[in-house]
Amino acid sequence: MKKLKKRSWAEPWKIKVVEPIKMITKAEREKAMKEAGYNTFLLKSKDVYIDLLTDSGTNAMSDNQWAGMMIGDEAYAGSKNFYYLWDNVKKYYGFPYFVPTHQGRAAEHIISQIMIKPGDFIPGNMYFTTTKLHQELAGGTFVDVIIDEAHDPESEHPFKGNVDLQKFKDLIKKVGAKKIPYVSIAGPVNMAGGQPFSISNLKQVKKIADKHGIKLWLDATRITENAYFVKERERGYKSKSISDIILEICSYFDGIWVSAKKDLMVNIGGFLATRNKKVFEQARNMVVVYEGLHTYGGLAGRDMEAMARGIEEMVNYDNIHARVGQVEYCGTKLEEFGIPMVKPFGGHAIFLDAKRFLPHIKQDEFPAQTLAAEIYIDSGVRGMERGVVSAGRDKKTGKHHYPKLELVRLTFPRRVYTQAHIDVTVESVAEVFSLRKSIKGLKMIYEPKYLRFFQARFKKIK
Ligand code: F0G
Repeated sequence: MKKLKKRSWAEPWKIKVVEPIKMITKAEREKAMKEAGYNTFLLKSKDVYIDLLTDSGTNAMSDNQWAGMMIGDEAYAGSKNFYYLWDNVKKYYGFPYFVPTHQGRAAEHIISQIMIKPGDFIPGNMYFTTTKLHQELAGGTFVDVIIDEAHDPESEHPFKGNVDLQKFKDLIKKVGAKKIPYVSIAGPVNMAGGQPFSISNLKQVKKIADKHGIKLWLDATRITENAYFVKERERGYKSKSISDIILEICSYFDGIWVSAKKDLMVNIGGFLATRNKKVFEQARNMVVVYEGLHTYGGLAGRDMEAMARGIEEMVNYDNIHARVGQVEYCGTKLEEFGIPMVKPFGGHAIFLDAKRFLPHIKQDEFPAQTLAAEIYIDSGVRGMERGVVSAGRDKKTGKHHYPKLELVRLTFPRRVYTQAHIDVTVESVAEVFSLRKSIKGLKMIYEPKYLRFFQARFKKIK
């Protein structure tokens, strides 16, 4: 008789409403991918079977969140949902001041414009596409000060999101603290593979920053996942709650910006929060120009109610455990087929290492873009490129940035897919892996000016 080695866990929810999905034929998928210029962002969602493009705004809301939508107070000014959301931002993130925005990049825009002067430098633990763009549009230059291990997909470092303190100190020495308005920290680090930072590293960064009068700002978009990894991996945090860990992390920062479309398990929303009254007043004034009145920031009252309730759900240990557990399940299964991936597995996604998956394709023939297209053609599973296309071009030389990480992200929306969907995904990646030698790269035939990965078009190299 088979003996159990380990007992299984299951999701802390059951399904009440379903949305039908269907797999179109291979010939239809080939046609759809060609028409989309081999860019998975340009596919129509009706042609996608399992959508792992992003976990952004693609989450399933709970019955409690849906119920909250019915008590949306759609007053132009002073909606009661706004005040409830503000209370929860204070309670769960620990900041007194709060400004809602319609999504994360709107908050990034406002913070960047307020904090950055032309000629400034913004050190950070690896770039994120929209974050860096807004820092640049404000006249700043982003400087990557993450530890080297983050650029190595095979390193098993438990906190690949950590800042390299020496790189940070070197930058201060080189450009002077006056030219560094703040350190831009994200947790976990999306582009590094969903990798967390440790609180002990954060404390050291804070010490150096304080010494030089430099502020810390946090991209807290997926901070629940970072808190989960701290609880699992960092000494002294095992018995702390997710909520306590988030509050401790936030206590080291002057402020945060958040895309609520992730942790908060809603379909739209964002905000910024700070303990700095002056920054708050400026942000509250700017939001009126770009988003809407400061008590709705481009959102409906019902959206803010769903966000407020989402915050209460995100700190639930069982929820975050099931989320990260699903990613780990997928990674462990892929490992059985020898698929090259970023290790350790991240919080929101599995990142396939396209450089090792398709070693015969040069980086300027876009191995990750190619791999994402091939997986879609095989099974209708949609992932996204996170490599040379996402990295864009150097502002000065006009040449491609060639990031060390050339990845395909398979991202898991919260509470949306079952273990069977993951099994189908794993089998598809394994199938493409077995055929990898016959796969050819791509040529870029259209390139927009900003955030090119969203809209660039490609054709197959014959
Ligand atoms: N910061 C991080 C870490 C993000 O992952 C995102 C969005 C943003 C900021 C911007 O927020 O989309 O609400 O404007 N990430 C999505 C993704 C697009 O697929 O990773 P937004």
